[in-house]
Amino acid sequence: MKLWGGRFTKNTDASADSFNSSLRFDSRLYKHDIAGSIAHARMLGKQGIISTEESEKICGALDRILEEITNGTLSFDSDAEDIHTLIETALINKIGDTGRKLHTGRSRNDQVALDLRMYAKEQINEIKSLILELGTALLEIAEAHTATVMPGYTHLQKAQPVTFAHHIMAYFQMFKRDTGRLEDCYDRTDVMPLGSGALAGTTYPLDRSMIAKELGFGSITENSMDAVSDRDFVAELLYCISMIMMHLSRFSEEIVLWSSGEFNFIRLDDAFSTGSSIMPQKKNPDVAELVRGKSGRTFGNLMSLLATMKGLPLAYNKDMQEDKEALFDSVDTVKQCLSVFFGMISSMKINKEKMLSASKGGFTNATDAADYLAVKGLPFRTAHEIIGKLVLYCIDKNMAIEELSLNELRSFSHLFDDDVYNNISAENCVSKRSITGGPAEETVRIAIEKGKSDIRKISNPD
Ligand code: ARG
Repeated sequence: MKLWGGRFTKNTDASADSFNSSLRFDSRLYKHDIAGSIAHARMLGKQGIISTEESEKICGALDRILEEITNGTLSFDSDAEDIHTLIETALINKIGDTGRKLHTGRSRNDQVALDLRMYAKEQINEIKSLILELGTALLEIAEAHTATVMPGYTHLQKAQPVTFAHHIMAYFQMFKRDTGRLEDCYDRTDVMPLGSGALAGTTYPLDRSMIAKELGFGSITENSMDAVSDRDFVAELLYCISMIMMHLSRFSEEIVLWSSGEFNFIRLDDAFSTGSSIMPQKKNPDVAELVRGKSGRTFGNLMSLLATMKGLPLAYNKDMQEDKEALFDSVDTVKQCLSVFFGMISSMKINKEKMLSASKGGFTNATDAADYLAVKGLPFRTAHEIIGKLVLYCIDKNMAIEELSLNELRSFSHLFDDDVYNNISAENCVSKRSITGGPAEETVRIAIEKGKSDIRKISNPD
């Protein structure tokens, strides 16, 4: 059934019908659509725009429609234009003319904006919970590895020793920021648009605040034209999701590297790895690769919405129907990635010995050797120069700095003493960096405790 047949003299072409229809993807909004319609019908009744009996009849029928959709008696297998049309048609089929009163003072333009905001709010919370679960897993891993020394890299070249806990806590920080971004996005999504009508508001005395309260919205929109044409909240959520996916993707890249034979820092559980159909020896980090791969489509979804919106005049344009597939795909993708990532990292095994031995090669203590001389009075730049020459000498002899004799060291600077060996051990390179934000064991323990309290605060605000 068409909700707008009156001024038409012939049926739409079947191809145009199926082209226009968004039902195959917007059916997932049915709960939000029904909840929104019930709130609207109650308000119409309370305001005397329809009678109390009519309002109750509409609400009762909408409840039954919800039940029928949930238990499968009402299917989405229909040629309806969208989920809003499908539900309104079902309502009219049930209660006839009373059902035809539901749409009083409302347009699908403010209705779809409402549904999408309700959906986005719900999904923001779900994504946030998944991040918090992942964050908790990261804290547990970090807690077990505050003394697990590993090489830190810049340019993917060994740089200075850190700990596995410190490295993991870097990702914790990223995900913490992601929850903050989601909360900001939530605030701007939490605004109720009903009452904006098609674009110019309505002549009926709607109680917009009552609807906002019933549906749990923090405030109501302030301009009817903006309210029906604003998809900033969708773009923002797509951006938040892209950022989460970018973080997951960087993490995935490290998992791929660390699980390679060359690094051998971690071993992924068989339950989160796959084999090769030709090479019997292979165990591949497919999950991490696929998370890295899927980040691309979420960035694409953000670009797609921005491109859809950029040339649109006010107010609603049908182009905006294209917002949904991008949003739904990104939401599904990030939720799937967060939960599979959680399983993958919670079950991986850490090869401490390999991490420690790797941090001993590659002159990761060269900065500390320079600092050693600088502390003894040499200007740092001069110390840097001397250690640079020392490193060249070591490369030539295929030795590490700490493997040279004191005499050899002294031929570079008389400031070297016996205590240098202890001073530049990988473990001590880490333990000396107890500066706030640094990798020393006690500092990272403080960071982990702070992380736990951050998670508590994010989960239970106030
Ligand atoms: N299916 C439409 C969408 O997703 C609902 C709004 C339709 N409004 C209209 N005037 N055609 O945007």
